[in-house]
Amino acid sequence: MKKMINIALPKGRLGEKVYDRFEAIGYGCPSIREQNRKLIFENEECGVRYFWVKPSDVSIYVERGAADIGVVGKDILLEYEPDVYELLDLGLGVCRMAVASCCDFSDDTERTLRVATKFPNIARNYYRGKGREIDIIKLNGSIELAPILGLSDVIVDIVETGKTLRDNNMKPFEDIVPISARLIANKVSYKFQYEQITELCEKLK
Ligand code: PRP
Repeated sequence: MKKMINIALPKGRLGEKVYDRFEAIGYGCPSIREQNRKLIFENEECGVRYFWVKPSDVSIYVERGAADIGVVGKDILLEYEPDVYELLDLGLGVCRMAVASCCDFSDDTERTLRVATKFPNIARNYYRGKGREIDIIKLNGSIELAPILGLSDVIVDIVETGKTLRDNNMKPFEDIVPISARLIANKVSYKFQYEQITELCEKLK
């Protein structure tokens, strides 16, 4: 009997879309649609077991082999640089990482730039590339508040529709990198479940 593939899906809107894709290629698991708070679902016939995981934790489950594969935003891969294989761009959850601030912001390049972000690594790498001195203020959400309240000069954050920025009288000033959902695999699982994982990957394409 073939081994089950353990799949970590990001909880939330992106995860639902991702699951639809898996279902469409024949890896459905009907019980996942039930309205309850269960976190694990399996379909023995298709050989898949799904876990709902906090989006920023998917790569931890996959890196450590608790999940064989998973779906995670490129933002998380760039921020945490997990030791996993990135197999496929699913073209879902498309957005971008950008520098943004209040519409009237003007940069004084002589001064250290105060940058509020959930992504200190991405921000540090970006400004290092530009040779710009920065002071990182790590926040966990509602990042847009920081420049409004004078906590930072700019933010480095995800922009999807741009509505959060517009509604707060802010705008993007520089794009850093495009982001979308990626299929990732544990390195050992990829070797030992190569056929199953590549078959799934091919169908997802
Ligand atoms: C993300 C991001 C922005 C917003 C961008 O926040 O941090 O605030 O979405 O989307 P938009 O361009 O479509 O408005 P999230 O909803 O994840 O909440 P958070 O404040 O907890 O980070």
